[in-house]
Amino acid sequence: MKQILVLNGPNLNLLGKREPEVYGKDTLDDIGAWLEGEANSLGAELTFTQSNHEGVLIDALQAAVGQFDGVIFNPGGFSHTSIALRDAVAGIDVPVVEVHLSNVHAREAFRQTCVIAPVCIGQITGFGKTSYLLGLHALLAEGEA
Ligand code: DQA
Repeated sequence: MKQILVLNGPNLNLLGKREPEVYGKDTLDDIGAWLEGEANSLGAELTFTQSNHEGVLIDALQAAVGQFDGVIFNPGGFSHTSIALRDAVAGIDVPVVEVHLSNVHAREAFRQTCVIAPVCIGQITGFGKTSYLLGLHALLAEGEA
């Protein structure tokens, strides 16, 4: 079984209530339960972590070394600003795929700057919860995870 960390950043704990017209009606737990079902049939075991705090996310990325085969990471608003999270991703020997529910490139100009994505194996954006499943497929493909 491949061990995959699903790491969610700030405000994603509010999914379901938060701007449902943008992010959908599913809660983070709904998405996690659905993704877990999909992952089982793909031979992957998922661990979920969410934090609103940059340092906690950095600690989780650093702790992933030797523990996880890959990380599915939705950094939320930090995607567009956090050099510290970018450095954390660049500094670990674990493949990370950045995912977003919404298509950040079709939204406000400030969301079109993605400072973490260039040090990830790739970015999947705009497919709702399916972005997480596509991220899992990307990690499992060609032995990335
Ligand atoms: C998001 C997109 C970000 O721009 C935003 O700040 C979020 C959610 C997404 O999944 O679409 O918090 O990461």
